[in-house]
Amino acid sequence: MNLRQMLPSDHSALIELFKETPGVTLRDADSYPATERYLERNPELNFVIEDKEIIIACVMCGHDGRRGYLQHLVVKPNYRKLGLGQKLFKECLSRLSEIGIDKTHIFVFKDNGIANDFWQSKGWILREDVNLYSYTSSNSTNA
Ligand SMILES: CC(C)(COP(=O)(O)OP(=O)(O)OC[C@H]1O[C@@H](n2cnc3c(N)ncnc32)[C@H](O)[C@@H]1OP(=O)(O)O)[C@@H](O)C(=O)NCCC(=O)NCCS
Repeated sequence: MNLRQMLPSDHSALIELFKETPGVTLRDADSYPATERYLERNPELNFVIEDKEIIIACVMCGHDGRRGYLQHLVVKPNYRKLGLGQKLFKECLSRLSEIGIDKTHIFVFKDNGIANDFWQSKGWILREDVNLYSYTSSNSTNA
């Protein structure tokens, strides 16, 4: 298996992977132009793992100069529990650390049991002291 940087040309394969994965929700932010922009803004922080040139796992990661943010950590079901999820997020944390960012967040839906179990088993702290507020501009097609 081969870990490499995510490329804009991976977009359609990634969308297929996300669509077949319960727990992952697709939004406007997953469109091709938005993904291309994200990868441009966050070089060397987004990865895929391939098996025989088929993408079987991925992670997206960005930062705002202060904190890191992980999104869309996905491993295909047949490849789970082999350490690939951990390998991917550790690669991101290591790159973030190189640029001086030592704290990273991930937003996880409360009803995604697999993901919540995963992050807690890896030592990530569930924040009960923070409320997340979001604002969507009126021209967005996102619900
Ligand atoms: C969450 C996910 C990425 C984990 O990937 P993975 O490659 O299986 O994870 P790893 O092999 O690195 O880690 C496995 C370890 O994490 C924990 N873990 C993973 N899945 C778990 C589960 N369903 N329940 C409990 N613990 C779990 C265990 O400690 C496990 O260790 P073990 O191998 O000793 O049992 C994968 O289950 C997935 O793609 N889920 C669907 C997509 C998703 O919801 N992503 C998260 C969005 S925030």
